[in-house]
Amino acid sequence: MALPYAEVIGDPIAHSKSPLIHGFWLKALGIEAEYRATHVAPHALSGYFAERKADPDWRGCNITVPHKIAALEHVEDRGDVRRAIGAINTAFRDADGALIGTNTDAAGFAAPLSRFDLAGQPVTVIGAGGAGRAVLYALAGIGVGPVTLFNRDVEKGAALLSSFGLEGQARPIGDAVPPGALVVNATSLGMTGQPPLDLDLSALPQDAVVYDIVYAPLETGLLAAARARGLATIDGLEMLIGQAAVAFERFFGAAPPRERDAELRDILLR
Ligand code: ATR
Repeated sequence: MALPYAEVIGDPIAHSKSPLIHGFWLKALGIEAEYRATHVAPHALSGYFAERKADPDWRGCNITVPHKIAALEHVEDRGDVRRAIGAINTAFRDADGALIGTNTDAAGFAAPLSRFDLAGQPVTVIGAGGAGRAVLYALAGIGVGPVTLFNRDVEKGAALLSSFGLEGQARPIGDAVPPGALVVNATSLGMTGQPPLDLDLSALPQDAVVYDIVYAPLETGLLAAARARGLATIDGLEMLIGQAAVAFERFFGAAPPRERDAELRDILLR
């Protein structure tokens, strides 16, 4: 009999770190299953889901660019993710056999923030794309506010704030960062091959936290500037591992061994 398996789908997909993460946890827990990367082009998405739904060994998939919105058409949206976030990154089989779509990016983003008391605190977010939506959804759940949302397209930023019921204002990237408890980069700025994100952090108090969802490079210019000021930082691998952890439990029914994160991070950085 074939092994149970899950996978990550996208176009392109070769760069994905998900197989390393899930593979590490499967091995650590001694679970006899596989996790692979599968290239799925946009025109092949319907056929992919039709085939996998009929495969009893398939436990589900992580979904990455460019399928995070289109995949909603092929799953049941029991958690109202379409309205709340507008994109899914995970599909898994429920106990009754139904294929459920969910978004574990928001929970993965929020997990490291539980170390801090951010309710009612002013925060700054950069970015109003797919990642920005998951970040704002999570921040609305924590009850932060007011939110200053920096985006190249300011109107899009303002619309997003009001759609999440968040107090605050949208500003163009380049404006000064106001005092606040948290700054989050939810764009690809600062990623290898992308333009840098130059922010003036001088208005932040000494107990502020700076969080970058970019993980390549691990120390982005933003995190280096925050560390130079002695501020607490959270890097992009924390969200990457966090979103994977929630999905892993859905696929394989076991909590991943998070006490081994340091070892996993070394593998991901090799
Ligand atoms: P993702 O799903 O990864 O968030 P996305 O939906 O394409 O990707 O969103 C990318 C985000 O990065 C957006 O906030 C985008 O700004 P706009 O909404 O104004 O397009 C921002 N972004 C991307 N490239 C940028 C650049 N060169 N300068 C400024 N902002 C940029």
